[in-house]
Amino acid sequence: MNQHTNPDREARNILISNDRGGYTIPTEGLYPYQWNWDSAIAALGFAQFDIDRAWIEIETLFTGQWTDGMVPHILFHQQDDGYFPGPDVWGCDGPIPSSGIIQPPLAATMARKIWEQDTDAGEARIRELFPQMLAWHQWIMKWRLDDHGAVCTTHPWEAGRDNAPDWDKAMARIDASDVGEYQRRDTSHVNSEDRPTKFDYDRYIKLVQIGRQAGWDQQALLTQNPFRVADPTMTFTTLRAARDLLAISEQLGLDAEGLGADIADLEVGASSLWNEDLGVFDSRDARTKEWSGSISNASYLCWYAGIESEKMLDRLKAVLASVPFPVPSYDTSMPNFDARRYWRGPTWAFMNMMIGFGLAEMGHEQRAEELRVKTKELISTYGFAEYFDPISGSPAGGNAFTWTAAVWLHWAGRD
Ligand code: DGY
Repeated sequence: MNQHTNPDREARNILISNDRGGYTIPTEGLYPYQWNWDSAIAALGFAQFDIDRAWIEIETLFTGQWTDGMVPHILFHQQDDGYFPGPDVWGCDGPIPSSGIIQPPLAATMARKIWEQDTDAGEARIRELFPQMLAWHQWIMKWRLDDHGAVCTTHPWEAGRDNAPDWDKAMARIDASDVGEYQRRDTSHVNSEDRPTKFDYDRYIKLVQIGRQAGWDQQALLTQNPFRVADPTMTFTTLRAARDLLAISEQLGLDAEGLGADIADLEVGASSLWNEDLGVFDSRDARTKEWSGSISNASYLCWYAGIESEKMLDRLKAVLASVPFPVPSYDTSMPNFDARRYWRGPTWAFMNMMIGFGLAEMGHEQRAEELRVKTKELISTYGFAEYFDPISGSPAGGNAFTWTAAVWLHWAGRD
């Protein structure tokens, strides 16, 4: 079955039709605003046919940066009643109405890639962005490290892997009995089987209420927020972004004091996420010190962060051979694996791309190519879905999805 006869054109059209003027929504209806890590991936896609628009995507993201350096996970550029929780629920007062949490910091890494694609076109843009990207990195170093130097997520939406089994134990401890009435909007756009459960949603909203009550004061939230989990997504992407920032600063002669030391700390933090019993990079509750016991697609971002692991490579080889459409967001052998439910099993093309970047950069070109070819087959057969069933390949979540289109243009569709 190949319904997608001109995926290049389709992918470009998705980016163009999701463009809201300076920023790109992930998909119509389900996600009507600018999402932080989606935007960084969108910029890579635009760079394949409109490099100026690629820079604008990242620049618009940083127009929402708070004075303390934080870059929110959602920028509500304009009101849209089709999404919950909107700006009135978050109650933040940054320069643009926004959420009060971050997302994995991909912007510096993708900005570097776009700059390297055309250094002349990008030099002034990246110079201008550099202090903003550095300030965000410093904010993460100040507020999100655990005792080992691993980077914590303070809301499941912060790590971007909303309902990953990584958070199950931490979520179970949250009392959301007083969360009150609210109306979910996501399940009016897509199949509820593909989305997080009500149990999870109650806790997502409860955590927003706690943040709002604290006025999003990070010092206060260090004690008041019951959810704090050190995780491979936040840790590996922060380490990678720090390496990219350092490389940019060296090439352009920019001041980046402290980055070398931060990288050393983050390397220690990243290594601390190795769960010897499970033989993977795992998440660890920063409050209880308990492992999550999760083999996720984020575990395979180690190479993206510049960390070698023979054991992860062996595991990856096995996954590539055993699942038709790798890499599942939760290992198929784990008891709670769910092929369709968001981050509890489905394959995400953009995570594959980041895993592929890391593999290729660390000399595992053959594995990277294998992953790219399987991702290409997945998208060209099943389309530009938000995510996919790793066994049947069937599309799930939203469709005409920006980051899947961007992945096609930048990586999967390029032989
Ligand atoms: C959602 O609303 O589902 C998002 O993932 C939050 O970032």
